Amino acid sequence: MLLQQALPKLIQSMELGVDRICNISTSLRTFSRADQDRRVPFNIHEGIDSTILILKHRLRADDNRPAIEVITEYGNLPQVECFPGQLNQVFMNILANAIDVFDEVVQQAADGQAKPQTITIQTMLAQPNAIEIRISDNGKGMTEEIKSRIFDHLFTTKGVGKGTGLGLAIARQIVVEKHGGSLEVQSTVNQGSEFCIRLPICVE
Ligand SMILES: Nc1ncnc2c1ncn2[C@@H]1O[C@H](COP(=O)(O)OP(=O)(O)OP(=O)(O)O)[C@@H](O)[C@H]1O
Ligand SMILES: [Mg+2]
Repeated sequence: MLLQQALPKLIQSMELGVDRICNISTSLRTFSRADQDRRVPFNIHEGIDSTILILKHRLRADDNRPAIEVITEYGNLPQVECFPGQLNQVFMNILANAIDVFDEVVQQAADGQAKPQTITIQTMLAQPNAIEIRISDNGKGMTEEIKSRIFDHLFTTKGVGKGTGLGLAIARQIVVEKHGGSLEVQSTVNQGSEFCIRLPICVE
């Protein structure tokens, strides 16, 4: 190809690259917002989006499974008074667990076809003075026995070197103790799991 023809394409792909780097660096900054010693107003959706971007490399298809699809259904939310860096940590721990599930077992539909692997994130207002964030996956789900222990310190079903069993214990501590919210789970074996985070919008 002539240099003259190649040049515009080259510049275009450089521009795309720069755009992507900007997005990633904005996300990293949002994600790791240094935590103040008091709550600040925060756009929860920005926090979720930056977490998804950081996990993007884990969502891609690999040798064992198809790509994981993340569906976001965002409601119209006000800003929430919170510790943003800590809440992003909660989103990260819950999303990473959902991805771990898809990495562990290759899901198959009844007809033997690969089943789409989906994580759905919904947000909505919940009265009074609260919001809800629901993160669900259509993975293998949990038995009652496992479900009753997932928030315990050091409880893990993952192999040595794969899980420390701290992710959800930390998430619960951040949501309940630091933010006065609640973190609940519903799960059905072979159908999936849903984590529901409820947070007060502002504290008196
Ligand atoms: N979405 C999910 N579907 C099925 N099981 C889950 C899901 N999320 C968590 N679990 C179960 O809960 C256990 C505890 O999760 P937790 O995040 O606290 O620890 P972990 O993922 O094992 O280790 P890590 O400290 O690296 O997060 C997991 O080992 C897994 O058995
Ligand atoms: Mg975990």
